[in-house]
Amino acid sequence: MILYFSATGNSKYCAEYISSRTSDEIISLNDMMKTGVCSVNCEGAERLGIVAPVYDWDLAYAVSEFLERVSFENLPDTCYVYGVFTCGSNGGRADETLRDILGRKGITLNAAFTVSMPDNYVLMFRTASPDRKAEHLAKADDTLSEFAEDIAAKKDVQKMTRKPSRFFVRLIRKFFMPSQRKVKGFSVNDNCIGCGLCEQVCPMNIITLKDKRPVWTRDECACCLGCLHRCPKQAINRGKSAKNGRYINPNVKL
Ligand SMILES: Cc1cc2nc3c(=O)[nH]c(=O)nc-3n(C[C@H](O)[C@H](O)[C@H](O)COP(=O)(O)O)c2cc1C
Repeated sequence: MILYFSATGNSKYCAEYISSRTSDEIISLNDMMKTGVCSVNCEGAERLGIVAPVYDWDLAYAVSEFLERVSFENLPDTCYVYGVFTCGSNGGRADETLRDILGRKGITLNAAFTVSMPDNYVLMFRTASPDRKAEHLAKADDTLSEFAEDIAAKKDVQKMTRKPSRFFVRLIRKFFMPSQRKVKGFSVNDNCIGCGLCEQVCPMNIITLKDKRPVWTRDECACCLGCLHRCPKQAINRGKSAKNGRYINPNVKL
């Protein structure tokens, strides 16, 4: 069984890739979040994988918060449990957060992997050129091929990128993350056609259409940027996104 969270497709692509080698069933955490389903029946599962993006050198906030609430029913003692963290360049300490959350549920994380893929953090950084993105995705396939073999063979391995200091990650989590999650920076321009895709993709169900324009109904969001990247008219912006471009993984259906 593979549980994945994805806003712009990288993590979904990894989940599908691993499933193509292991034949493990895939479940979308985005769908679970949206529908409020908080339990998973793991009966008979040989492997349990969590595939999710890295935000601020840590496991994506919405994922860590949601996993705290999820109950893994009938998980066999022999089940191999692993995390795959997709990121632009550095997976930070996302594995430790996942290990702690699962540990509180009596589940041991056997393996952790970082897959570097094109970065969707356009609040500050420009997206790569099309050539560079294609190169990056091809390299990610090589990495995934190796990791999928490890996962199929249930290897206890830690294949994370070089970790930033724990102190640094704690500082970021305490001081930067809360402001990062504030929705007040989002704006909607006149390109908006009121299609409602942003409302559909928001994993926290906090976007609603008012007079055919998106409105954020809470102060904090997942900061997954799904609404921004997937808007068909590029009408949603935040930070420097208007000049930094958009990203959607081209090899996956969202
Ligand atoms: C709020 C936010 C913070 C991010 N922080 C990091 C980071 O600390 N390190 C990194 O390498 N990539 C970072 N990224 C990039 C994403 O981890 C990366 O693009 C990921 O593959 C996106 O996954 P998805 O396409 O499944 O949503 C960040 C992206 C967002 C939206």
